Amino acid sequence: MDLAPFKELIERLQTRQSILWQNPKKSTNYQIDSQLIDDAEERLNRFAPYFQKVFPETKINKGRIESPLQYIQQMQEKLGVAGKLYLKRDDALPISGSIKARGGIHEVLYAAEKIAMEHQLVTKDDDYAIFTSERVKDLLSKYTIVVGSTGNLGLSIGIMSATLGFKVTVHMSHDAKEWKKQLLRKMAVTVVEHSGDFSLAVDKGRAEALADPNSYFIDDENSKQLFGGYAVAGRRLKHQLKTEGIVVDANHPLYVYIPCGVGGGPGGVTYGLKESFGEYVHCYFAEPTESPCMLLGMATGLHDQISVKDIGLSNRTIADGLAVGRPSSFVGKQLEPLLDGIMTISDEQLSHFVRELYKAEQIIVEPSATAGFIGLKQLPEAAQNPNATHIVWATGGSMVPKEEQEKNILGF
Ligand SMILES: Cc1ncc(COP(=O)(O)O)c(C=O)c1O
Repeated sequence: MDLAPFKELIERLQTRQSILWQNPKKSTNYQIDSQLIDDAEERLNRFAPYFQKVFPETKINKGRIESPLQYIQQMQEKLGVAGKLYLKRDDALPISGSIKARGGIHEVLYAAEKIAMEHQLVTKDDDYAIFTSERVKDLLSKYTIVVGSTGNLGLSIGIMSATLGFKVTVHMSHDAKEWKKQLLRKMAVTVVEHSGDFSLAVDKGRAEALADPNSYFIDDENSKQLFGGYAVAGRRLKHQLKTEGIVVDANHPLYVYIPCGVGGGPGGVTYGLKESFGEYVHCYFAEPTESPCMLLGMATGLHDQISVKDIGLSNRTIADGLAVGRPSSFVGKQLEPLLDGIMTISDEQLSHFVRELYKAEQIIVEPSATAGFIGLKQLPEAAQNPNATHIVWATGGSMVPKEEQEKNILGF
């Protein structure tokens, strides 16, 4: 691996200071596979009657797993933002309280639908409340869903799979919080704890699933179905902005800042945003200073062939959901013409934003979820544009137990 051409960037990363990398490969010449997003959107719509039945909290959105877009004026003033600042409340997504509820749940639905259709128990025209029937649940109970996770993907997949009747095994990295494991065990999910990081947990899950023909492995490093589920967010956000009376065009740019771990969540959302807003949306990822795996993979063009450990970073961070050392094998390549840039944020800055958000708006999120706020510091010109709309994507938090939330706010 010849890293000499990237010496300067690597040295900047090694300082562990917050940095901004602007993507030189961004272009207006790209193609979006709208069919992938259509498929995911239609599948989620087919399952809406099921969700209304088993997760009554989704009734308010007619069985859609969607989160509010909240104007955060106090925070906007505190950060000196000239345009409008919104928080996308994926921390409050129903069912599993994180961005992972988008892609993770979608892929479990994909697997359930595929198996039920192969056994002629369901057709696309049925009322999908049929997934609550004993016949379908019995069938799904013969299959095991397997996943590797730092915590939140495991939560979304564990809860969804167990509810549908699947057996489910979640391989957790050492970063996963104890409460997430306990919650899953209460739902009869098998939780396997590993002393290694996310990549190791994924490898273990993949190996286990390969050995069992009745297993379905959800591959956070590679999955198109996860990606498609996240991408649906773009179309939904378009409606939400319209309802808010927000115009996005050449004179009114939209800036979106999304925390990034392995890349599937923010990558899928960016893909969907580009479909909906084209060149008028500017997407940035935020990663911990100790785990800038997507930045390193995209900037060097090595993608999953390089790990943050190869440049001496620890991959240890309080942002458990972002503690990923090696990025997805396909997301970075897919995003080369789409992504504006990636910025890094230290643990101290994450804690600072957790507290500031609470003080200004009384919103409590987990540390990973505040990473996007660094965008307003790293892009001062955008922050001073009175015509711009900014969205910080808050990616997790509502399921965090009260004691843990208090610990996050009072200090780590
Ligand atoms: C709270 C939170 N934010 C952001 C992410 C990043 O998603 P991805 O790993 O798909 O990049 C995660 C991943 O688990 C997460 O838990």
